[in-house]
Amino acid sequence: MEPSSTNPGRGRVVLLPLPYQGHINPMLRLAAALDSRGLAVTILHPETRAPDRRKLPADYRLVTIPDNIPPELAASGDVASFVFALNKNCAAPFRDYLAGALREEEKGEDGRIAFVVADVDWFAPLSVARELGVAALGLMTSSAARFLVYLAYPSLSHKGYLPVQESNFNTAVEELPPFFVRDLHRVMDMTRHLAYANLLAHIVAGVRQSSGLIINTSGDIEGMEIERIHSEIALPVFAVGPLHMMTSSSSVESSLLTEDRSCLDWLDTQRPNSVLYVSFGSLVGIDTDEFLELAWGLADSQRPFVWVVRPRLVHGCKSSTLPDELQEKIGNRGRIVSWAPQQEVLRHPSVAAFLTHCGWNSTTESISEGVPMICRPLSGDQMGTARYVCDVWKVGVRVEVENQLKREQVQTAITRLMDGKEGEEVRERMRDLRHVVVKCTSEGGTSDVALQRLVDSNV
Ligand code: UDX
Repeated sequence: MEPSSTNPGRGRVVLLPLPYQGHINPMLRLAAALDSRGLAVTILHPETRAPDRRKLPADYRLVTIPDNIPPELAASGDVASFVFALNKNCAAPFRDYLAGALREEEKGEDGRIAFVVADVDWFAPLSVARELGVAALGLMTSSAARFLVYLAYPSLSHKGYLPVQESNFNTAVEELPPFFVRDLHRVMDMTRHLAYANLLAHIVAGVRQSSGLIINTSGDIEGMEIERIHSEIALPVFAVGPLHMMTSSSSVESSLLTEDRSCLDWLDTQRPNSVLYVSFGSLVGIDTDEFLELAWGLADSQRPFVWVVRPRLVHGCKSSTLPDELQEKIGNRGRIVSWAPQQEVLRHPSVAAFLTHCGWNSTTESISEGVPMICRPLSGDQMGTARYVCDVWKVGVRVEVENQLKREQVQTAITRLMDGKEGEEVRERMRDLRHVVVKCTSEGGTSDVALQRLVDSNV
């Protein structure tokens, strides 16, 4: 008989995502990948931004736990305070849930909990699981290179590289090639730096005491980085990504915003390989000047484009309406949507390039569709990822910005990538890189083998 979610014989995995879109997506993709390998899935989620039950596969369990987070804090952009509050407020409800699940397991009323996977930011639940004797692994939703930055944060601070100062921007970080200081986390004031350093210390300590680390990357694109992590934390490391390629795209729907699918119809009317897709992910904001310069750059480029202008993308602006003069210039050549079905857009044959903030999910989604990138990183891990995209894998070009973004810089980057010889070479390398990730996520590839190792392991 096929094991089912109600069959006590089927091991259960309990997954705890961090309530941000860029973290929920990879965790739910991991859920789908583990489900397809025979594990029953329970998603444990704080009340804040909990996924819609109706969008999850019918046999998943969704358990929401109280978090007592004021909505202003959740929306504030103060990630460190938000994550600390989540850990503090959710540790007890998490303990209650897990202890209850273990009692049911003992009575034979429910399946065995094989292991817990918590986003690495959930340091308190990782420690609770350990206290209750349940194997628990951290999921790093971003790159292995980013986790190396987490590990090196104290020594980089000690060396004076952090908080980042402009005078140091072009100093190579010898212990973290290929990074320069400008690629590190751009927290530039001391108070925020100390709060962030404290958060990372908790995250790293949580991972060190866990049963292992799962990373949303592949040994074929970050082999050296994974080896280094392995040597520094002496725990099992599972590079099982890019996770969106480890399961069929229709198996999990995790968008918190409503997708405007009309852009797909519009893309159908465009020439193959002609459209620029523009998106800055779910979190970062830009100021009005950057928004308008970007709009003028897109207008001047004469290229068709789809641009995601999500609510609150532009600081202090509720609407994304462009001045009349700009709208006239763009006409029907550009399509602005508040949220796109990004993976489908990237897969569309009309799309030729992606102007991106280099969020890790966006980057890996672009690679898997073979779409070269124009990089405009803005914060967090994005500068580091742009370094890999432009200078290691060489599958994208940067928008070269001095201080404030200028329309000519946008136009120059678009021309570099979408016309001429440089663009052709970048596209060719992107085709090669795409083959690498397709191979590693196919049967017998490194990520496929790592995922099976995780399922089979007695962590
Ligand atoms: C942030 C960081 O930038 C990222 O690097 C980190 O790993 C997680 O937190 P975010 O800024 O949201 O994430 O960017 P990204 O990692 O690219 O994730 C955005 C996700 O939203 C992607 O999976 C993308 O497909 C999806 N998305 C984005 C849509 O579905 N529609 C859109 O219109 C835009």
